[in-house]
Amino acid sequence: MSETVSVEEFEKTLRKDRERITGRMAAILPPPEEPPETLHQAMRYSSLEGGKRLRGLLCLWSHRMFGDPHPSASLDAACALEFLHAYTLIHDDLPSLDNDDTRRGKPSCHIKFGVALSILAGDALQALAFETLSACPCPEPVNLITSVNILAAAAGSKMLVGGQAADLEGEGKTPREETVQFIHSRKTAELISASLAIGAALALGDSPSVSRLQDVGRDVGLAFQIVDDLLDEEGEEITVGKSLRKDLKRGKITWPACYGVKKSRENAGFLIGKSAARIRDFGDRGLLDRLFHLILDRAS
Ligand code: IPE
Ligand code: IPE
Ligand code: MG
Ligand code: MG
Ligand code: MG
Repeated sequence: MSETVSVEEFEKTLRKDRERITGRMAAILPPPEEPPETLHQAMRYSSLEGGKRLRGLLCLWSHRMFGDPHPSASLDAACALEFLHAYTLIHDDLPSLDNDDTRRGKPSCHIKFGVALSILAGDALQALAFETLSACPCPEPVNLITSVNILAAAAGSKMLVGGQAADLEGEGKTPREETVQFIHSRKTAELISASLAIGAALALGDSPSVSRLQDVGRDVGLAFQIVDDLLDEEGEEITVGKSLRKDLKRGKITWPACYGVKKSRENAGFLIGKSAARIRDFGDRGLLDRLFHLILDRAS
């Protein structure tokens, strides 16, 4: 049996790798004094401070599970995932989407910089994500192209943006199980799945392994969004760092709206348990296993 990382080692690695990702993001982002200053400030404001860096960590640690052959490539890919994620949060909070004033414990991008600049900051962060990933130092062009393709497919109209559209169109409609599955698997789960898959692809993992990891990531991502829905109903605003109790008010189609709180928690727990077992089979020493459980048990 392979040795398991202790809680202390997990927490230390989590802290260290969060700092590494954020430090590298800060170096990649255009400096705040570079014109157009306000745009670059908005990009930095919404991507650097706060944030759990879950997608970046999933990528780094999936890469590590494959022996960590190209750590600088996986670090840049982690930044790319976090840039793309930050763009989705800026746009998600806009008045014409969820209309949320608080994000990561501070005013949302449009409250601080206005709507127009927030749209542009989101656009630019999405472009920066692809610029960063496509330039990451992976020596194998095929694996690099695969990674870019995974991210593009996860971000597009059939997945993330499509899920966001369905989420908006679902507002006020009767919550149905097939609808919530459609929305959550697209708006959230696919990017989380891409994070695990890209880490593996850049480690030159073979394509069956990459697609099996993608499957694991889809379950983790679904559990992640179920917990996000639960936090909206039951969490503490000060801890979560964003406006809560909004889903019900806006008539969002959420997991608890379809299944109730108790069943939702069970569903999330089942998905994480299954994913943790599968990731152990890949040779995870416990970093991803513990991260999956953190996704389930988190308070923010
Ligand atoms: C929030 O994601 C948006 C959803 C997909 C539910 P996170 O909870 O990962 O946000 P940060 O990055 O930690 O702020
Ligand atoms: C957001 O889902 C998903 C994306 C940003 C793609 P939510 O709308 O539930 O996320 P929060 O609760 O605002 O963070
Ligand atoms: Mg939303
Ligand atoms: Mg939202
Ligand atoms: Mg939410």
